[in-house]
Formats: sequence, C-alpha cells, structure tokens
Amino acid sequence: MLLNLMASLNSLFVMFFFMYFLLTSLAVPLIECSNSTKLHRRWVGPSGHRLITVDVSGFGDFQSVQAAVDSVPVDNTETILIQISPGCYIEKVVVPASKPYITFQGAGRDVTVIEWHDRASDRGQDGQQLRTYHSASVSVFANYFSARNISFKNTAPAPMPGMEGWQAVAFRISGDKAYFSGCGFYGAQDTLCDDAGRHYFKECYIEGSIDFIFGNGRSMYKDCELHSIATEFGSIAAQDRKTPYEKTGFAFVRCRVTGTGPLYVGRAMGQYSRIVFSYTYFDDVVAHGGWDDWDHVNNKNKTVFFGVYSCWGPGIAAVRGVSWARELDYDSAHPFLAKSFVNGRHWIAPSDA
Ligand SMILES: *[C@@H]1O[C@H](CO)[C@@H](O)[C@H](O)[C@H]1NC(C)=O
Ligand SMILES: *[C@@H]1O[C@H](CO)[C@@H](O)[C@H](O)[C@H]1NC(C)=O
Ligand SMILES: *[C@@H]1O[C@H](CO)[C@@H](O)[C@H](O)[C@H]1NC(C)=O
Repeated sequence: MLLNLMASLNSLFVMFFFMYFLLTSLAVPLIECSNSTKLHRRWVGPSGHRLITVDVSGFGDFQSVQAAVDSVPVDNTETILIQISPGCYIEKVVVPASKPYITFQGAGRDVTVIEWHDRASDRGQDGQQLRTYHSASVSVFANYFSARNISFKNTAPAPMPGMEGWQAVAFRISGDKAYFSGCGFYGAQDTLCDDAGRHYFKECYIEGSIDFIFGNGRSMYKDCELHSIATEFGSIAAQDRKTPYEKTGFAFVRCRVTGTGPLYVGRAMGQYSRIVFSYTYFDDVVAHGGWDDWDHVNNKNKTVFFGVYSCWGPGIAAVRGVSWARELDYDSAHPFLAKSFVNGRHWIAPSDA
C-alpha cells in the first residue's frame, strides 16, 4: 500500500517535471525576445557572402578600392570579398570600424598595389599636420579584416638621418583579429603601423628603414621577409607595450632579415616592449649591440622583454650583443612560437597558420 502510494507519487512527480520542462522549453524563445542579454553572450559571426570586384581599367564593379569599401553597409554582417585586379591603385583607403569581415584579395603582391605618399609633416584638410598614424596609405579600423596577395606602399621618399616629420606609413592596422598572407608592405620610415589588436602575418614581405614595424599590436609574423633599405642606420621593430599587464608584443617566427644596415633588430618604444625572434635568419646587417633602449634614460633595459630563440645566420652574433636581450630556452620561447600567441585557434583556420 505504502509502496503503491510512493509509486503513484513518483509518477506524479515525473509528470509534473515533464510538463515543467515542456513549458519552460517552449517559453525560452519568448525570454530571448524580451531580454537580449542572452544573445550578447553568443558570438555572432558573419552570415552570407558577397563578392565585389575592383578593376582600375573599369571592368569591375568599381574602379577604386575606397569606392568598393564605401559600398559596404555600416554594421556589415556579411563576409565581403573585395577582389582587386592587377594594377596600381593610387589612393588613400580607410576601412572604418563599422565594417568588419572585409577581405582585400589581389592577384599577387607584385601586380596589385595600393599606394599613396603622405608624410607625418604633411598637412591634412584641417590644415594640421597629419602626424605619423594618419600618414598611412591604407588604414583599417575594422575587426576581422584580411588581405591576401596584394601590396601596400607609401611612396614618399626616404628621409636622410635626422630629418623630422618624414614618417610615412604604408599600412595601419588598428582592428582586432586581422590576417595577412602573401602581402607586401613598402615604405621607408614607419612602413607598417601594427597599432592595436591581434594580428597574424604569413609569408609577407615588409620593407623599410627605421622602425619599419611599430606600434602596440599583439602579432605573429611567420615566414616573413624583413628587408631593410637603411642607408646609415635602421631598425626593424619598435614595440609599444606600456605596462606589464598588456598581452601585446611582436613574435617573429621563421623569418628572414635581409637588406642593408647597420640595423637594430628591436627598439623599446614602450617601457615594457616585447619582441621575440625565433628560428629566424639574420643576414650580415645587424648593428653592434643588436637592440636599442630608445632613449637611454628610463632604464627600459630592465623592463623590456627582448628574446632570441634558435636563430641563425651571419648576423646572429650581433643580435646577441646586449646582456638584457635574452637567449631563450624552449620553455620560455614556447608562448611566442604558435598562433596561440594571438589566440589564433579561435579565428585562424589550420590551413592559414
Ligand atoms: C535582462 O535581464 C537582466 C538580468 O536577468 C537584467 O539585468 C537586464 O536589465 C534585462 N535587460 C532588459 C533589456 O530587459
Ligand atoms: C596567392 O598567391 C599564391 C602564390 O602565388 C597562390 O598560391 C595562392 O593561391 C594565392 N591566393 C589567393 C587567395 O589567390
Ligand atoms: C641600462 O640603461 C641605463 C640608462 O637608462 C644605463 O645607464 C645602463 O648602463 C644600462 N645597462 C646595461 C646593462 O646596458
């Protein structure tokens, strides 16, 4: 009798919970519609694709790259492939923050080129000097930007040492999760402004003279050629990490350092600058000392993280030139060797790494 009662109570409970779950599961869409906090937690990727063609001689949807970017709606949610035919596109281009998921695809970095020629000391429309960050031929503020097989140039002439205001950026990336492969970056002083966000550069060619990769990005450069055209003194990378809490830094993996020197391989732009070269070849172009602490006054040589792991070539002795640039072992180099340095597992396909 008692057992029977328990059993029926049991089935009552089962029924009750069944109804309860049925009702709550039906109610879920209503809850989502009336309160969207749940939606905000979910990552919303792009939906749909669109192809836009750009051809300098008029055989595409647009004749200029900026016109193609302008045609993308604000708060874009589609994957946008802007295919750019061979040719030289002489224009200044901006991809605003409101237009994520855009790819520039050229026909090869030797044949598709976007170029302009502003210098930091040139004056903008408001009559003020542009300054370095606004001299860029192409500036990207949007997230999830990518570029493949295309070159970006700033054709302002190279400065002589000591000349002021000749910084001339070819490309500025200020958006998060940007991917570049088979791209060329050409300039002299301050060619590539690796400003902010996580970036991955694969098989790119980067040419310049002074601080030709600079900024506070968190970036990996894999299988890239870093080519110096310095005439008296040059430097490859100036990284601007300002506090020990930032995750920013430049990790160069399996790169080649070529061109003319003498050349510093890294400079402490920020107090906590981080630059690591791994499996990289250095031609005989490295300056005595190898690294520079930027201003010789703030003891940056005590706070920076400059490292070298498993590098080689005739310039390697000079790269080991100061006591405060460390020779890393595998464990300390490990965080700087894989795409996890830029959280790449979540946004870079295995075939793209
Ligand atoms: C949604 O719900 C959360 C907590 O349940 C509340 O803090 C928030 O104000 C609500 N938002 C709206 C738009 O109702
Ligand atoms: C880029 O160029 C490389 C080498 O020429 C080629 O193998 C690759 O397919 C190209 N990628 C795209 C997306 O066109
Ligand atoms: C570090 O830099 C300071 C100046 O900021 C300098 O006096 C000192 O000699 C440097 N130390 C080393 C080991 O290079």
